[in-house]
Amino acid sequence: MGAVLSVMLSVCCLPASAWAAAKAAAAVKVSGAPRASPSVPQQGNPLLGREKIDSERCQECHGVDGQGAGHANGPEGKFAKLAGQDAAYLVKQMQDFRSGARKHDQMAIMARSVSDEDVRDISAYFASLPAMKGEPDPKAAATSAIGQRLHEQGDATRGVLACASCHSPQAQGAALAPRIAGQEWRYLDKQLRDWRSGDRKNSPDGVMNKALAPLSDAEIEALATHLASQ
Ligand code: HEC
Ligand code: HEC
Repeated sequence: MGAVLSVMLSVCCLPASAWAAAKAAAAVKVSGAPRASPSVPQQGNPLLGREKIDSERCQECHGVDGQGAGHANGPEGKFAKLAGQDAAYLVKQMQDFRSGARKHDQMAIMARSVSDEDVRDISAYFASLPAMKGEPDPKAAATSAIGQRLHEQGDATRGVLACASCHSPQAQGAALAPRIAGQEWRYLDKQLRDWRSGDRKNSPDGVMNKALAPLSDAEIEALATHLASQ
């Protein structure tokens, strides 16, 4: 953990404080009672969050179980799984969609239609679910091995950092970096391409743009195949 933190701190300094604020605002514990002091940001309530994903229609695309649903399983599905994702990460993404720091037309509309309190409750709900789970694809074992090597070791000759150094060895997320193990393949593939092209640029200090810049299409597909199979 110390090593992960020092990597994170050495690469992302200023924006980390903004992230820490989002972290403080988010619920990380299901059982935590709301705190009394008005100066302390309220924790989200996962039970209210469960009701709100129906009334705010989040489940239509993300699923009640946060494993993706409906359109997510169709040919156009590029919808994120949210189950077991870090609550503070989810809160930050909703803020970024709302402000335009992360661009996506549908999600910008959704994010602007919910209050800060709704976002905290809904994030607490998805964070409380059993973690997203992928399906190993035996036909893609060779491709997946290339992805696994990049995830675990990176490529020092090209200055590619190991994804694991920030996202943790099992890719279940650590510090500022979200869970990516078991995420939907098409969603992963799109995010990785967006980081590389700069279409997505809301990571602290551009760490994800730098991480992806040297990678080829085939390497991106291999990473998506490996991560989606976890
Ligand atoms: C019409 C479909 C649709 C609905 C309804 C919808 N979303 Fe999304 N959501 C998406 C898509 C598509 C993406 C992926 C955006 C991208 O490609 O960057 C996404 C991404 C997200 C992300 C980012 C996940 C990550 O891993 O970074 C969060 C958080 C999120 N949605 C939360 C919500 C919440 C909360 C609601 C309800 C208020 C909601 N969504 C409703 C389609 C939808
Ligand atoms: C220096 C730390 C660091 C390294 C190295 C790194 N990441 Fe990330 N990654 C992050 C952070 C921080 C975020 C969250 C950005 C944000 O706030 O939106 C992130 C976000 C992501 C996302 C978006 C997840 C989602 O739900 O939308 C994916 C996918 C991802 N990283 C994959 C990778 C892969 C694959 C590698 C290796 C090639 C990698 N990362 C290397 C720190 C890192």
